[in-house]
Amino acid sequence: MDWKKEIQILEETLEQLKARYADRIDLKTLEELRVKFLGKKGPIKALFDFLKIAPKDEKRELGQAVNRIKGLFESWIVEMRQSLEYHEEEIRDLTVPSRLPSLGHRHIITQTIDEITSVFKGLGFAIATGPEIEQEYYNFTALNIDITHPSRDAFDTFYLKIPPDKKKGKFLLRSHTSPMQVRIMEAISPPVAAIVPGRVYRPDAVDASHSFMFHQIEGFLVDKAVKFSHLKGVLLEFARRYFYEDVKLRFRPHYFPFTEPSAEVDISCQLCKGEGCSACKQTGWIEVLGCGMIHPNVFKHLPSEYEGYTGFAFGMGVERLCMLKYGIPDIRLFYSNDLRFLSQF
Ligand code: PHE
Repeated sequence: MDWKKEIQILEETLEQLKARYADRIDLKTLEELRVKFLGKKGPIKALFDFLKIAPKDEKRELGQAVNRIKGLFESWIVEMRQSLEYHEEEIRDLTVPSRLPSLGHRHIITQTIDEITSVFKGLGFAIATGPEIEQEYYNFTALNIDITHPSRDAFDTFYLKIPPDKKKGKFLLRSHTSPMQVRIMEAISPPVAAIVPGRVYRPDAVDASHSFMFHQIEGFLVDKAVKFSHLKGVLLEFARRYFYEDVKLRFRPHYFPFTEPSAEVDISCQLCKGEGCSACKQTGWIEVLGCGMIHPNVFKHLPSEYEGYTGFAFGMGVERLCMLKYGIPDIRLFYSNDLRFLSQF
């Protein structure tokens, strides 16, 4: 037997097979080829049989050559089978849903705004939004904020470098959402009850509890014979729904130019139930918003159809309410886009 030639033919055949099936082979053909070349009746087995009776001085060389060609065939078959399995897997089930990109969700501030506004919506308030670039008239004058009031100072308000309006004064980034009280009542006849979420701006240095931009929610209700007790009722209902069922409210006298009387409202501390703890600075109470009866001087700026009406107004900081509810220690967490924080909500 000319085994050298046999082996050379096998090597060439393998090269041809590799070329022919480089792109694709099916499992059946591959199995047939395996049996044909590596099976009991195949040429490699024949060579091994011959090895047993081969002349002694050729045995070593023959043995090495046969093992080598056997290995080449085997590894080609294994390789082809693996690539086949890979492809099969790929097309096994076309109905398997693809991997979804991770979906985002509403920012916790947006969620808080939605939650608060929906409480007031349930109480019959309409929801409105207004301009962040405001005019002096709406932000201050119409709200009875005197020209000497510190909040009108250039250090306490962002004024824009555009020519002022002859009637309504300088343009600025609104420092609260209260201007919308006047804007809405200019546009809508009484009675009116509205809630206004939105961004406000103050040139405060940023720290754990201050930001140059934050969110407020303004609310007001104007009708015949509206009293302070209505304000209390509405705020208590809000606090029950947003904070917790048996919450208590405390109204502390305060001053706002656009309300009279004015009050700051505290909620009873849920953590210590009024005992005093670090969350409420040992007082048992936590300040949550400002409010009052709309000042007669504000009514003077409204259309005459508002004569004879009274109303209440309140304003709250969204970040603050959210921080209280979830125990968030630093306002900057809302704005730093850290998914470890945001994805918790
Ligand atoms: N605008 C006030 C503030 O920004 C809050 C407020 C609104 C107080 C309405 C009373 C009535 O501090």
